[in-house]
Order: sequence, then C-alpha cells, then structure tokens
Amino acid sequence: MKQLKKAIIPAAGLGTRFLPITKAVPKPMLSVLDKPTIQFIAEELESVGIEDIIIVVSPDSDVIKRHFTPNEQLSKRLLSDGKTALYEIEKKTGSFNVSFVVQETANGLAGAILCAEPLVKDEPFALLLGDELIYAGENDKPCIKRLAEIYEKTGKSVIATMEVFGDDVSKYGNIGIKDEEDGVMTVDKIVEKPSVNEALSNNAIIGRYVLSGEVMGMLKKLQPHGNEIYLTDALDELAERGDLLASCFEGVRYDVGDKFGYIRANVEYALRSKEIGEDTKEYIKELAKTL
Ligand code: G1P
Repeated sequence: MKQLKKAIIPAAGLGTRFLPITKAVPKPMLSVLDKPTIQFIAEELESVGIEDIIIVVSPDSDVIKRHFTPNEQLSKRLLSDGKTALYEIEKKTGSFNVSFVVQETANGLAGAILCAEPLVKDEPFALLLGDELIYAGENDKPCIKRLAEIYEKTGKSVIATMEVFGDDVSKYGNIGIKDEEDGVMTVDKIVEKPSVNEALSNNAIIGRYVLSGEVMGMLKKLQPHGNEIYLTDALDELAERGDLLASCFEGVRYDVGDKFGYIRANVEYALRSKEIGEDTKEYIKELAKTL
C-alpha cells in the first residue's frame, strides 16, 4: 500500500452564485472572517502529513498563487513594526507546499481531478472539495485525518458522509451500505443525486475523500456522460468489489459555495473567534430581540 502524500483541491468553479464579487476575485479567495476559504482547506491537511497540495484552479486565478507565495517585503515590514503575530500569519500562509493546475473547461469533478493526474500519477490522494469547510472542534480530529487513518489501516478508498433527510437526499451522492464496524461502513453501491425514491439510504457523500492510487487510472477509462466524467462511476466500481469504505463525519459542515452557508460560516467562526467572539455574541443576542 502506498503512503498518502498528495491532496487535490478542486477549486475551479466560476462562483456565479456570488457575482459580482467573483467577477474579479476567484471564489476560493472569498474569506470567512480574515482567511480565504481555500486556506481553511489547506490547514485541514496539516494534520495528515500531506507533502503536496495540488489546487485545481480556473484560468485567471493568479491571486490564489500570490496568496500562497511568501511575501518578503510584507514579512520584513511586519517584523520591523514589531507585529509578530501578523508576521507569523504571513509566514504560515507562505509555508504551504502548493502547486496549481488549470482546468480550462468546466467538465465536472472527475475532469478537475484528471487535471492533477500528471502530478499525482498512480499514487493515493486526498480529495477536498473547495466549497466545503468542516469544523472539527478545537481538540477533535479533522475529517480528512479520520479518513486518512482508515485508509492507512485498510488500504481501501474511503469517503466521508453525513445523514440527510427528505428532499435533501437528491442534492448529494448517496450510498448503499453492506455492513458497518466501529463506525466504518462498507459501501455496496453509489448513486449520484438520486430522486427521493431512488435513494439507497440517508447517507450523503460530502466533499472529503481519500482515494487509492488506482482511481486515477479508472477515471481515465470511464465513459463520459455528455462532456462530464463522473467520479461516482469510479467509486461505484470500487463499491461493487467491496473496496470502498465510508465514515460519517464528525463536526460542523459549511457549504460555503452557497450564500446562506457562507453567512452561517462567517457567523459561527466569528462566535468562536478569540478576538471578536464575545462582541459577536452580544450583538446577536441584541439583534435577536428585534427579530
Ligand atoms: C459533488 C459530488 C457528490 C457529493 C457532493 C458533495 O457534487 O459529485 O457526490 O455529494 O459533491 O458536496 P457537486 O456538489 O459538485 O454537484
């Protein structure tokens, strides 16, 4: 079994739901408080010992590269001004080992993953969707860490899930479960965004995966649906062979690709903030009286 050393973050969406800001600012640079969403995702990987982070971006995303490049002038200035805390923030931001690949045409999630193929080859990889933030709690295990541990123990691909109900099953990939042991489910089937009647269970796939090295090769061989290749088709092949596991995530998930999810993330991260948490709480309490 090959060790997990690489991660892919597909972040090439145009962010049309956030126009006009996304006209000039790439969606992954939208911030929750003071940090771009893409950096939250890179930080989730710190717990896993990933050596290479590959971000799949749309053309004209230079500002994301700039964000992750050390800025010597800024560092020097912060140090000479005695702003050591801010200096540490800049140092950390420039410290991620990130590469960028451009997805020229929007051809789905598998299309984005395949853009990273020259850098990943047949190695296992973590996959973290750029639109989802997962808050695990100060002292709890990040979602991707839990998946990496299951992969390291079993050598099998593993996906994170959450429970959903009613019409919400149709918004996500959906899994059927063969058995479950110690919170790890063996998946026997996957359907992508089923109707309520077609759903196999209440377990929806969320945007965190650890996939074995063979997945990249499988994606290359799949038949496209229109101009899109579905990751789900490859995962379903693994599931048929009993080679796909799933684990229900722990923590809070934010869909920051959606306006309400984005506001929720900002409010809840503000409430957790040492700097403005108390003020935010007082403000919300006062505001709630007027609603
Ligand atoms: C993708 C996957 C889907 C998964 C979802 C999680 O869909 O195809 O299986 O449930 O991410 O957010 P998308 O949201 O890109 O349409």
